[in-house]
This record gives sequence, C-alpha cells and structure tokens, in this order.
Amino acid sequence: MDNRPIGVFDSGLGGLTAVKQLMSVMPDEDIIYFGDTGRVPYGNRSRETIIQYTRDDIDFLLKHNIKLIIAACGTASSVALPYIKDVGVRIIGVLEPACHAAIERTKNGKIGVIGTAGTIKSDKYAQIITSLEPSAQVFSAACPMFVPIVENGYADTEVARMVASDYLIGLKNQGVDTLILGCTHYPLLEGVISDIMGSGVELISSGREAAQYARKLLAREDLLTDRTAEGRREFYVSDDVESFVQLGGLFLGQKIGKNVHKTKI
Ligand code: DGL
Repeated sequence: MDNRPIGVFDSGLGGLTAVKQLMSVMPDEDIIYFGDTGRVPYGNRSRETIIQYTRDDIDFLLKHNIKLIIAACGTASSVALPYIKDVGVRIIGVLEPACHAAIERTKNGKIGVIGTAGTIKSDKYAQIITSLEPSAQVFSAACPMFVPIVENGYADTEVARMVASDYLIGLKNQGVDTLILGCTHYPLLEGVISDIMGSGVELISSGREAAQYARKLLAREDLLTDRTAEGRREFYVSDDVESFVQLGGLFLGQKIGKNVHKTKI
C-alpha cells in the first residue's frame, strides 16, 4: 500500500483526458497534475527542447513526493522518455498501453496512428506495434493543427472538421480498422474523427489506456492507496490559471475548482 499521490504531466491541457480516466479507474488516489501551459505546444519543437521540457516537468513532480509519474503526453512519451532513465520513481508513458490495445482490437491488422509532428517523426508507435505484432501494418499521420484547435476551444467546429478530413483521408483510404489517438489532446476531437473515419473504425485513446495500465501496475506492485475517500487533486500550470480553469473542465469532464496554482518551472 502506498498513499502518496500519482504525478501526471502534459505540455498543456491534453493530459487532463488521462486524469479524467484515472479518476474513474482509481477514484481514491491523490493526483498532482502539471500542465506546461506556458510552453505548449511541444509537438513541433526539436528533440533537445522536448527532452529538456520533459525533464523539467518530471523534476517538478518529483518535488511532490509522488509514487508514480505518468507522462500523459504523446510527444514527451515518444520523443523524450527513451532518453530519460532512472528518475527515482516509476514512470510510464502513453505509448505501450495504446499499442497493446490496438493490437488486441484490430481485426484486419491495419492500425492507424495520429499524433503531433514530433510523435509521428519519432516513429515510436509504429516500432512498438511491429515489435509486438510483426504482421501488423501501421499507417501514421501527423496532425499538427489539432493541438492549437483544441487548446483554443475550436474542437467542435467546422474548422476542426475541415482540418481533420484533410489529415485523415489517407488513413481512411488505407482501410485501417483501429486508430490510435496518439496525443492526449485528441479525445476532444473524438466525435469529429469518428464521423470522418466511420463507425467501423475503433478509436483508441492513449490516455484512457495509460490510466488502466497504471491501475494494473500499482495493483500488481501493491502500491494502491488504502484510503476509501475521494482522492485530492491539485493542478499546477506554468501560465494563466484562469484560462486553464475555463478550458480544463472540457478535458476533465467536470469543473476544475480552486485547486489550480501557477508555478515557475
Ligand atoms: N498532449 C500532447 C501530446 O500528447 C500535446 C502535444 C503538444 O504539446 O504539441 O502529444
């Protein structure tokens, strides 16, 4: 048993989609979230910069005596985590759980992956999938406009629909039956993406799969909390608190209260 909080970070708001799932699968756990809203987006930055930002995010969470870190950011998970070892606590990214889920659920072996430019360029999703299932075919597409669309509250608009059909048409034509939303911002575009891909294509949320994986990991290592009251949630951001509170509720699926703090990184 371990009553310390779980630390979660993302470049901005997207990681809250993973927190939403964590709160549903482990409601009693305390969660400390860091969103690097002052430096979002990460996805179009150089590898060196993404690694540095990811190290800063991890260092921040380590100050909070956490038992597990979840890199709830596809870009940090694919571009930076392979270079960051031994931070002193368990750390998991969003890639492996999503890849396992996609392999389990595909019927025709054709798996699509969408993510930021950095994530797709790293090719990590495709590498993990084909190492787990060599017969799988992976088709990837970078969707660099999705994060700004979502962070600016345009997820449910005609603009989002137009941009998404342009990004997704190639994957649709390849006949993928499973599509990994390889960026934790993308669940907010789930409706739009599903309309374009069609109901026969199963969407895999990397944040949801990571939350379920985290639960299994903590249970296996006997590190779940033994409290039975609802866990405490604290949110830290590196930029304006007000806009995080306003938009964050959409990602979290519930209102964010007073527990948001601005911090220097
Ligand atoms: N949520 C991050 C991800 O999963 C957003 C990336 C970005 O900041 O560009 O990749």
